[in-house]
Amino acid sequence: MTKISNGMRTSVGVIAGLALTLMAGISNAAEISVASGITGNGVENFKKIVAPWEKETGHTVKLVPMPASTTDQFGQYRLWLAAANADIDLYSTDVIWAPQLADQFIDLAEPAAELMKSHFPSIVESQTVNGKLVALPLYTDAPALYYRKDLLEKHGAEVPTTWEELTTTAKIVQDKERAAGNGDMWGFVWQGNAYEGLTCNGLEWIKSFGGGQIVEPDGSISINNEKAIAALELAASWPGAISPEGVLAYQEEEARGVWQTGNAVFMRNWPYAYRLGNGEDSPVKGLFGVTTLPTGGGHDTSAATLGGWNIAVSKYSTQQEAAVSLALYLAGPEAQKKRALLASQLPTIVSLYDDAEIAAEQPIIPQWKDVFLQAVPRPSAPTKSSYNEVSSLFWSAFHDTLSGNGSAAENLELLEAELTDLRGDSW
Ligand code: GLC
Repeated sequence: MTKISNGMRTSVGVIAGLALTLMAGISNAAEISVASGITGNGVENFKKIVAPWEKETGHTVKLVPMPASTTDQFGQYRLWLAAANADIDLYSTDVIWAPQLADQFIDLAEPAAELMKSHFPSIVESQTVNGKLVALPLYTDAPALYYRKDLLEKHGAEVPTTWEELTTTAKIVQDKERAAGNGDMWGFVWQGNAYEGLTCNGLEWIKSFGGGQIVEPDGSISINNEKAIAALELAASWPGAISPEGVLAYQEEEARGVWQTGNAVFMRNWPYAYRLGNGEDSPVKGLFGVTTLPTGGGHDTSAATLGGWNIAVSKYSTQQEAAVSLALYLAGPEAQKKRALLASQLPTIVSLYDDAEIAAEQPIIPQWKDVFLQAVPRPSAPTKSSYNEVSSLFWSAFHDTLSGNGSAAENLELLEAELTDLRGDSW
């Protein structure tokens, strides 16, 4: 054994003491991990949004980027949560997931009681499951019809208010642009991939034709009807005609890619595409407008699917105090305002709709207040823990129809049977 001199003993003791002090310091300064889907400038914006909280608390925030597809994200979350993963403290969650993931997150009702008074009650309600506040709203979402003002004007066309008009106008402008040498031009881009985004698009077509909400708020299955069939038949005429064949694999970012390079007359997308489309380097900057999605089949009310994202604290987090503090900050007015200005995402705090800076820089936000307030929720509340399965039956039936794999009538009849089977006696 090596003999340790008295002098060495002292310095070992000092160093050990120093290390303990340092460790205490480190344990006060936590690193909080946030899992979040990323689109557009998401990473850069995220850093800007969390910076004031980091500065104030001395903690750091680590972004764990997730796939842009909400469906893929949900699959990953389920695996992590089932494995009681303690590495992720906060999860950003889609508006539809609260009932399915409620047991995995802590109740935020008490710490957020004061803050939630400033949010739209319906949105707070959507994140409340049996009295438990599962997640705090970050932003809400309702899609728009984006249209190229310059192209419509050039070809003497109006902004369409029905899906039938959109189909005709898209074709005329697309063909004229192609004839004028723009061979890459398409009439309409949207989200046709087999995932949650197609459920949103499909719900909009059907509801705006007066064909119901697939599964109604009372849990009844309404999908197999003439209006829904007509809506789906019209949509099935688009791929290859006014939309690229590839639209059947498009999610939000693929649609935005075509649109933002200037190669589409119309796009269905969420408000995040507004700020990006008006970015300094965007070829369509200043050339487009937004309006509500069309109606169809003689029906007079358009439909936008209600979307939105929230922040939840994992019950497996070992740093819950700091995690709750970050969740409150992210759902609070400072972060929501930054998100509105940087990414044109719709706040859930009522007073931000009267904010002059937001209105001047991102006019879509005050313009969209009534749209999201009237937006159609997907049936995640009535179908409870079955929603993911229910939605995957919807998008499969829609995708099959759009791909020419069975007619709209056949696929919706089958969908009705599958949903009835899945429901059994009750959802
Ligand atoms: C948007 C919406 C979200 C929806 C998703 C579908 O991110 O906010 O609610 O599920 O799009 O792709």
